[in-house]
Amino acid sequence: MNILVTGGAGYIGSHTVVELVEAGHDVVVVDNLVNSSKKSLDRVARIVNKKIAFYEADIRDREKMEKVFSENQFDCCIHFAGLKAVGESVAFPWEYYDNNINGTLVLLDVLRKNGCKNIIFSSSATVYGTPAVVPITEDCPKGQCTNPYGQTKSMLEQIMMDMQKADPEWNVVILRYFNPIGAHKSGTIGESPNGIPNNLMPYITQVAVGKLKELGIFGNDYDTPDGTGVRDYIHVVDLANGHVKALKAIENKCGLAVYNLGTGHGYSVLDIVKAFEEANGIKLPYVIKPRRPGDIAVCYSDPSKAERELDWKAQYDITDMCRDSWRWQKQNPNGYDD
Ligand code: NAD
Ligand code: UD1
Repeated sequence: MNILVTGGAGYIGSHTVVELVEAGHDVVVVDNLVNSSKKSLDRVARIVNKKIAFYEADIRDREKMEKVFSENQFDCCIHFAGLKAVGESVAFPWEYYDNNINGTLVLLDVLRKNGCKNIIFSSSATVYGTPAVVPITEDCPKGQCTNPYGQTKSMLEQIMMDMQKADPEWNVVILRYFNPIGAHKSGTIGESPNGIPNNLMPYITQVAVGKLKELGIFGNDYDTPDGTGVRDYIHVVDLANGHVKALKAIENKCGLAVYNLGTGHGYSVLDIVKAFEEANGIKLPYVIKPRRPGDIAVCYSDPSKAERELDWKAQYDITDMCRDSWRWQKQNPNGYDD
């Protein structure tokens, strides 16, 4: 298939481009590089031994998007482009709504005007809020999102569902990611956060590489086996493959389909610290800190719908995730700035 990948220079996007090209698809990336580097695509090109077509463009820029469509014909769009930092979204809500909502509205309009009514959308487990039950199934009611970032995911899901309902020619696959970590086995592409990382694994790898002094564990008084927060960590290459599998649903004219992409296993923060230490032979200094506002105790998926309907199942375990995250950080202590 000919696939437009928005946000394809980013963390999940770059890994997905690798898997798409390796599965035989043709890919065009659109990214404004607001949170990524063009170097990621140069490295993807080296991995797959093929140049990646790239437009530096903001998805809110209708003129540029029209140009992309005038020069290409797409069968499907995989839509990663968006801002994703929870704390930043609380400080800059307008910017988040403008970028994520407005950007997606422009994209959807340009897609339909050009006759491409197939989209795979990056959503998040954050739409479940404090989950009513764990493991979380797709029919678990959506919850109250505590921040504008989460609101944009929830609203965009609704917008796409409404559009699909009004015009059944649309095929919309909504993928709700759990916690992506890890990196490509080459160690040449990975997550390269700006400034001090908010998320657990990049924080851990930056402690391990000596850029940060110690890990702060946000709370050890949750109602979990060891008191620390439990999450469903998933290898980014497994996640990337979930998108390749989701293309089958598009080909089969799925209409609207929603899938969790997780492993179904919950690991605590202390489990991750231990797994990282054992996988890499590194001691990680940590201190217990107060709970982080807005955090929930436990979140993990029931991924069986994706297995049943997409023939997709995560292949990598927590040791693989810790080893691959570390390989990327060790080889690129400053991410793409090296
Ligand atoms: P990322 O920041 O690495 O990638 C997003 C990419 O989109 C970046 O390359 C950025 O430059 C680009 N972008 C942002 N706004 C744009 C715009 N207006 N026009 C063009 N390009 C734009 O993030 P990621 O971790 O790869 O996440 C990809 C998607 O998955 C995002 O939509 C994110 O919200 C979603 N998601 C991520 C996680 C996670 O933990 N990483 C979890 C759930 C959902
Ligand atoms: C975060 C986002 C969420 C997003 C998800 C997947 C926040 C508040 N939420 O959630 O919207 O959908 O990533 O990308 O950012 N932890 C520490 N010390 C740290 C960092 C994290 O103890 O320095 C703990 C957290 O309290 C949590 C676990 O590690 O229990 C995972 O945290 P994180 O990687 O930020 O992911 P989420 O909290 O699941």
